[in-house]
Order: sequence, then structure tokens, then C-alpha cells
Amino acid sequence: MKKSDLAVIVLAAGKGTRMKSDKPKVMHQLAGWPMVNHVLHTAKALSPKRVVVVISAGMEEIAVAARNIIPEVEIAVQKEQRGTGDAVKAAEAALKDHKGNYLVLYADTPLITSKTLEKLVAALDNNTVAILGMKPADPLQYGRLKVKADGALEAIIEYKDATAAERKIGLVNAGMMAVGPELFPYLKELKANNAQKEYYLTDLVAIANKKKKRCAVVEGGEEELSGINSRAELAQAEAMLQKRLRQKAFECGVTMVAPETVFFAADTKLGRDIVIQPNVYFGPGVEIENDVEIRSFSHIEGAYIGKHCIIGPFARLRPGAYLSGNNKIGNFVEVKQATLGNGAQASHLSYLGDAKIGRDVNIGAGTVTCNYDGYSKYETRIEDDAFIGSNTSLVAPVTVGEGSIIGAGSTITQSVGADSLALTRPLHIEKSGWAKEFRAQKRKKPS
Ligand code: UD1
Ligand code: CA
Repeated sequence: MKKSDLAVIVLAAGKGTRMKSDKPKVMHQLAGWPMVNHVLHTAKALSPKRVVVVISAGMEEIAVAARNIIPEVEIAVQKEQRGTGDAVKAAEAALKDHKGNYLVLYADTPLITSKTLEKLVAALDNNTVAILGMKPADPLQYGRLKVKADGALEAIIEYKDATAAERKIGLVNAGMMAVGPELFPYLKELKANNAQKEYYLTDLVAIANKKKKRCAVVEGGEEELSGINSRAELAQAEAMLQKRLRQKAFECGVTMVAPETVFFAADTKLGRDIVIQPNVYFGPGVEIENDVEIRSFSHIEGAYIGKHCIIGPFARLRPGAYLSGNNKIGNFVEVKQATLGNGAQASHLSYLGDAKIGRDVNIGAGTVTCNYDGYSKYETRIEDDAFIGSNTSLVAPVTVGEGSIIGAGSTITQSVGADSLALTRPLHIEKSGWAKEFRAQKRKKPS
């Protein structure tokens, strides 16, 4: 059967009670993305014909996240959480005209790779059901896999229903399941006569065996198959994902002296000859070109960093920061929704928000774009080759013309033409000898 005849069903309706959270479990973040995004990107890589995400009522934010990744995704709502089998059934109406195989994914198992899923789907060539199994160091409460002498899978026993002997089985169900066109007919046979009074998807294996159909276990590594049920497991998954992302960064040509202190987002795009010093954090939406240095304690999200830039230490690049190239962003400089032309620099203590800054502009220490009046945001434009003296407030909307110089300590509220000098500070007054005289008088009169 062709891969393109595959329908993927992503289960995301569970409440995730063990997370102790008001938000759906699968919306918790992992490497800068909601958990569910990871599974959806992996599903997309399989080029399936259909994708259905099963949510429960009131989880519209999951649907929004899913549509952002797969615009043609279908959303099915599971009315009550009556188990994984019931959740898959909720996708039946959306898939009623589907002819082909099915792949069931759990949104709470986000580290799964498309390579492993391809193996799972390929197992349908000679099996009716194929599931992913693993042998974790601690088999916890995963469903236990009963395998026949010939290696075929006989049944999945949920931990809560398992006997003491069955609980000793080290091979467990990771959750993901590939099923032939028999999926929905078989699901009709599920019963909730078990410890949790739920419809278990896992019972499909026993049902298929009863019909003399073969089921298989495809074994995968614990790292990519672990599910997330608690905050502690979320942190473990984050650690594993970061390890993967650091490895990917090395392979791109990135140097990190303390890689364990650098945190990437799942979508961080990296060029080559990038040096990242210790303690740097990347949020989502960052792209960095070749030959860039990111110095310690920088926090970067939603930013484009062109070639030959030096960022930090202690820099903050927020969404919409666009550095064209050869830029220097130094300590305690914050850039938000601002474009810097080639060679523009802001080396110390500045806020550049809602700004268009031209080529080779120099932004002095302590420059602030005053972009907000409590209601709206306004733009500051600084044209090519302008020089902004230290401790300048640029009250937007305002433009500083090409090649102009702003005197240090100015508050600029009106636009400045090209090649001018603008300054707003009071005149310098000096009274020679005044201080000496003052002290002499004070000493004469006891207070
Ligand atoms: C399930 C498996 C277990 C396996 C484990 C792997 C069953 C019966 N058990 O157990 O064998 O070892 O996963 O992680 O399938 N969900 C719904 N609706 C529901 C219930 C669950 O959409 O009514 C979704 C959840 O959002 C989650 C996934 O299904 O994404 C798994 O549900 P969960 O309750 O975590 O299953 P486990 O108890 O972990
Ligand atoms: Ca689970």
C-alpha cells in the first residue's frame, strides 16, 4: 500500500490530570513549541493523505495550533474521555470515505521520529496491526506486551489490569499504532470491561488475534518513545530534545564550549561558523546566518541575524528583530520589531523598538526609542549613517535623516533632516570660582 494512502489520527483529547494544569497537556511547551506541534510536524513529514486531530470540547487552541502546521487538518471532538479506543472512534466520521491504512499517534509522545513511524507503517505489509514497543530502564505503568513464540504480538495488557507476573514483562507499549483498513470495524468490538472502565485502543490486538490476523511489535528506543504525563517527564523530554538539537547544531557547523547551557527551539535555523558562548537561550522563530558570534547570557526569539553579527553578552532580541548583517548588539541592548541596516551598531544599554534603522548607523549608549504612549505604538526611523549620541530619547513617531548627528542627552520629539546636528540639552553654564566662594561662606557662619 502506498504511503499516501495513510490517514494519521493524533490523539490529544486527554485532560492530562497529572500535569496539574488549567491548560491542555499537549499545549505545554517543549523546545519553544507546544507539545502537539512536534507530533504534527512529524506526521506531516510522512506526507499522509489525511490528518485528524482528536480534541475534547474547549480545546480550540489545539485546533488553532494544528491548522497552523497542517492547514487541511480535520478536527474531531471526543465528547467524554472514555479511553484511547473511544478517542480514535471520534475520528470515524471525518474519515468515513478513507480507504487505506491508519496511523494513531499520541500528542503526548512528541519525540517520535518520522523514520521510526515509517518502519511502523511498513510493518502493515504483513500485519493487520503494528505497534511500537520499547524496553525502558523502568517500565513504569506502560501497557505490557505479550509476544508469541514466533515473535508476533498476542495482546497488550494495561498495567492496571495486569497480573503480578505480567507486570514483570519488560517490553511495553509506547502507544503509537498502525492499523489496516480494519480499524473502524474492529473498534466496534471494544468493551470497557477493565480496571479503568475505558475503551482501550490496545484491545485491538486481542481482537485481531481472535480473527487470526497477525500483529507485530516494532521496537524503538526509549528516548524517542517516552510519553509525557507529568511536569517531571516534560522536563526529561526537554532535556532529550535539547540534546538532539545541540547535536544538530554541531552538524550545521556551530561551536559551543558549554553546549549543555545553550537552549534551542525546535525551529532554530543555524548557518555555519557560528560561535555560541555559554548560557544562551533561543525561543521560537530564530534564524542565524553564517559567521555570527552569540555571547553569553543572550535571550533571542523571533529574530533574524544576518552574516557577521556579534550579539551580546546580555543582549535581548525579541520578535521582529531583523539584523541585516555586520551588526553589533552589545550588553543590555533590547531590540523588538526593529530592522537594522548593514553595519548598524548598538553596543550598550539601549532599547530599539518599532524602528527602522539604516546602514552604518551608530546608536550611542542609553538610547531609547519611546515607542508607546500607553495606547498605541509608533515608529522611529533612523536613516543611513546617522549618529545617535548617548542617552538620547527618540520620541516616536520621529525620523532622523541620513547622516545626521544627535547630541548626547537629547530628547528628540521632532524629525531631523539630513546631515544636521540636533540637540535639545540646556546650555552649559560655568561660574568660575563659585564653589570655592560658597564653601568659604558656609565655613564662616556656624549653622
Ligand atoms: C496508553 C496505552 C498504554 C501505553 C501508553 C504509552 C491505552 C489503553 N493505553 O496509556 O498501553 O503504554 O499509552 O504512553 O491506550 N486520549 C484521548 N482520549 C481519551 C484518553 C486518552 O484523546 O479518552 C489521548 C491522550 O490525550 C494522550 C493519549 O491518548 O495523548 C494517551 O492517553 P493516556 O491517558 O496518557 O494513556 P496512558 O494511560 O498513558
Ligand atoms: Ca500517556
